[in-house]
Amino acid sequence: MQPPTDRDQDQTSAGPTKKVFVKSYGCQMNVYDATRMSDVLAKEGYAETASVEDADLIVLNTCHIREHASEKVFSELGKLRILKQERKASGKDTKIAVAGCVAQAEGAEIIRRQSAVDLVVGPQSYHRFPELLRRADNGGGVVDTDFPVEDKFDFLAEPAPERIRARGVTAFVTVQEGCDKFCTFCVVPYTRGAEVSRPVAQIMKEVERLAASGVREISLLGQNVNAYHGEAPDGSIWSLAKLAEHIVTVHPNIARIRYTTSHPRDMSDDLIAAHRDLPQFMPFLHLPVQSGSDRILAEMNRKHTAADYLRLVERIRKARPDLALSSDFIVGFPGETEAEFRETLKLIEEVTFASSFFFKYSARPGTPASVLDEQLSEEVKVERLARLQELVDSQRHSFNRAMLGRETEVLFEKPGRHPGQIGGKSPWLQAVHVDGPTSLIGEVAKLRIIEVGSNSLRGELLESEVSR
Ligand code: 5AD
Ligand code: SF4
Repeated sequence: MQPPTDRDQDQTSAGPTKKVFVKSYGCQMNVYDATRMSDVLAKEGYAETASVEDADLIVLNTCHIREHASEKVFSELGKLRILKQERKASGKDTKIAVAGCVAQAEGAEIIRRQSAVDLVVGPQSYHRFPELLRRADNGGGVVDTDFPVEDKFDFLAEPAPERIRARGVTAFVTVQEGCDKFCTFCVVPYTRGAEVSRPVAQIMKEVERLAASGVREISLLGQNVNAYHGEAPDGSIWSLAKLAEHIVTVHPNIARIRYTTSHPRDMSDDLIAAHRDLPQFMPFLHLPVQSGSDRILAEMNRKHTAADYLRLVERIRKARPDLALSSDFIVGFPGETEAEFRETLKLIEEVTFASSFFFKYSARPGTPASVLDEQLSEEVKVERLARLQELVDSQRHSFNRAMLGRETEVLFEKPGRHPGQIGGKSPWLQAVHVDGPTSLIGEVAKLRIIEVGSNSLRGELLESEVSR
């Protein structure tokens, strides 16, 4: 495929004529991909719409991690088929595209089962969207789930400043994709492929645009983000810590850097040191442990023990004492005994997490754990999940309650729910709202927490900030 020639123009000169509705499921990387897809489509004359009924093109950006993920997509597609027929009856054409990890995993099977689908496009082929749409015009259904030799990031359209501004003062940047860890429960190594890091210069070009358009916080994304090892212009290989340091040195306006998701094995010394030395690194780290039982961790092929994790947490907290942690947990992995589950609860007690995600194990076809004997009953999984949830929730509430009366900094992102209010995030990713002027949106301001709700905190601006 030829690269587009007018890459810096965001839209066709005639302006948008068609509408696209993108529905994204799953992780933040999918959210990022959805924005990049709409940037590509904007160049093709598609404006985004929030109403699926108005859309000339509907994109389902799917996730394959959850149980019955494919079935849910097919059920959604069944509804879209009816919508497509209704629109056709009123003389309007509709294209349906399936993107994301289900597209990658199921490929042509999607069109075989649901002929209303025009296009199946895997995560490595979004830059080919325009060409694929044109091919879909000829009918018959188009499938592109290759891992192309060219790098999609070299070809993806760059968003115009006004598009970036409309998305707000925080932005995602994918720096790494794929995973070589092969945890036995996980589909990611199969759907997203081998681990690849984007080159430094390519990332810096994207960051430059974001910074110039008023973005103040960047979340560096990757399935295994702390394994980042990107090539720098001088040919050397940079770590995630080096990349983050470079970003804030070149762009002092970037006040905050976050990164997710990390694997415990890849928490390198320089990354831990950066939590001490780089004030822009927010003191909140999503570091999934999955289980507290060494036998289960080995069965999961996690490549670390519970003690390794505890030691690691101790080292990171020594570097940055106010660092808060979150994790993913899986309950009911095949063969998990009650005693092994309790080891997970014990680890949670020992670490204390600010928040966490927890999942019932579900067999993903094609993964090694799916064929293990001793799959646990739904009943056991539900019961363990409830106990784990109770513990994690109580830790989250204590963490939030401890904020009461404390002074902290908030990056304001948007107007609040009520007039005269603005909302943003604390360094620990807590939602905070205050009475304050919208001129503070995009600013980091000091405030005191005066109320702790179940899902958000309320603050009051410190005197020095009110006059800003
Ligand atoms: N069953 C349950 N949870 C899973 N996850 C990934 N695969 C599975 C599975 N087969 C969870 C892990 C991972 C998170 C993104 O989803 O906890 O960290
Ligand atoms: Fe999946 Fe494990 Fe890779 Fe995370 S580290 S993406 S859980 S295989």
